[in-house]
Order: sequence, then C-alpha cells, then structure tokens
Amino acid sequence: MDVGRLAMPIGEAMFTQRATRRFRPDPLPMEDIRLMVEAASKAPNGGNRQIARFLVVTDRPRVETFGALYREAWWAKRRDEQGWSGPDDIPAEDKTHRAAMGLADEMRDVPCVVFALALPPGAANSVLPAAQNLMLAARALGIGSVPTTLHPDVMDRFHAMFAIPSDVSFHFCIPLGYPRGGFGPTSRKPTRETTYLNRWEQPVPWE
Ligand SMILES: Cc1cc2nc3c(=O)[nH]c(=O)nc-3n(C[C@H](O)[C@H](O)[C@H](O)COP(=O)(O)O)c2cc1C
Repeated sequence: MDVGRLAMPIGEAMFTQRATRRFRPDPLPMEDIRLMVEAASKAPNGGNRQIARFLVVTDRPRVETFGALYREAWWAKRRDEQGWSGPDDIPAEDKTHRAAMGLADEMRDVPCVVFALALPPGAANSVLPAAQNLMLAARALGIGSVPTTLHPDVMDRFHAMFAIPSDVSFHFCIPLGYPRGGFGPTSRKPTRETTYLNRWEQPVPWE
C-alpha cells in the first residue's frame, strides 16, 4: 500500500471536494479502493471500539440491482420531504435536486459503491468521520464521491440484497468513480455566519 499516493495537500483536498454525481464507467483499481478504506479506518471513533464497517460493491450485476433500489429510495424521500412524484415536480432552478435525480438514474452504472455501516449500537458519530476520511482520500486519488442516504421503505430489501445482518446500521451509501466534470470550489455560507467565539452569537474576529 502506497500512502504517498495520498500526498495531495490536505487544504487542496478539503477545498476542492464537492459532490460528484456524474461518473465515468471506468473501474477503480483495487489498490485505490484499499487506500480509501485504510484512510477511513484511521478516523476517530468512540472509545476506539471501531464499530464502522464498509461494504464495497464493484460487482456489476449487484451495483445494477442496487441502483434500482436506490432510485426507489430517492423518490420515496422526495415524496415524503417535498411531495414530489416525478421529474416534472422538481423546479428547474433546483439544481441540487435535479443533479441528485440524475444520480438516482445513474447509480446502476457507477463503478463502485461503498456502504458505510455500523455494528450495534450503531452510532452514526463513530462512522461519519471515517466516511469523510474515505471521501477525502478519494479526492486525493482523483476519485469523486458523494454521501447519500436510503429510505425506510427499502431498508429490509437493502439488508437482504447484501446479506447484511438486521442489527447492522446503515449510514451512508457512497458512489465512487472518476468524475465526468471536475472537482472544484463549493459554495458555503461565510464562517462569520456559522461560527461564534466564546459564547453563542459573539462574532468571530474576521470578516
Ligand atoms: C446526510 C447527507 C445526505 C445526503 N444525501 C444525498 C442524496 O441522497 N443524494 C445526493 O445526490 N446527495 C446527497 N448528499 C450530498 C449533498 O447534497 C451535498 O453534500 C451538498 O449539496 C453540498 O454539495 P457540494 O459539496 O457539491 O457543494 C447528502 C449529504 C449529506 C451530508
């Protein structure tokens, strides 16, 4: 394992990591998949109990079968959260949901999907730092990613599809692949609006 391949400056990785939802079909080298998972394994976690588990799926028929489930889950979320039932319901200016719908259609074609899971008690906060490590390592390798979720409607079938024990919790579904399009800056609120110093609502000393 060549950790030197993750040598991209951490600032560059963090400041150019954005949601990749359009992927080239090229398969990912297994050594790169390993590097990403090794990086994930180094993340902080509660009591170092290491409850995070990763299920890496590269097998084409499995990814395709999962893609249909993912699409169903995505539309179930849209039904619950926005009351939408089809593409015409998504406002043209809602670029994030339009892109996310595209991913729901294309999940079946992505070269690799990683599920971030947890053994009981399944706390998310012991898994999410590992997922972010995995996605930053992906960025350093030129591999795009985006954290996504599923929906209660599909969870039993999801567990059955991959023979995941029912007490193993699901946290993220992370498609991975070389991006169609690039990496680049993201748009976020100014930290002056999101960060306080010493007490709630006391401004930070920067513009
Ligand atoms: C908890 C969580 C759930 C998300 N679910 C989805 C999802 O279901 N589908 C999707 O395409 N993106 C999903 N995302 C990605 C976000 O939409 C994305 O991180 C956000 O819009 C910022 O994108 P950017 O980094 O490209 O600016 C999710 C992100 C998080 C943290």
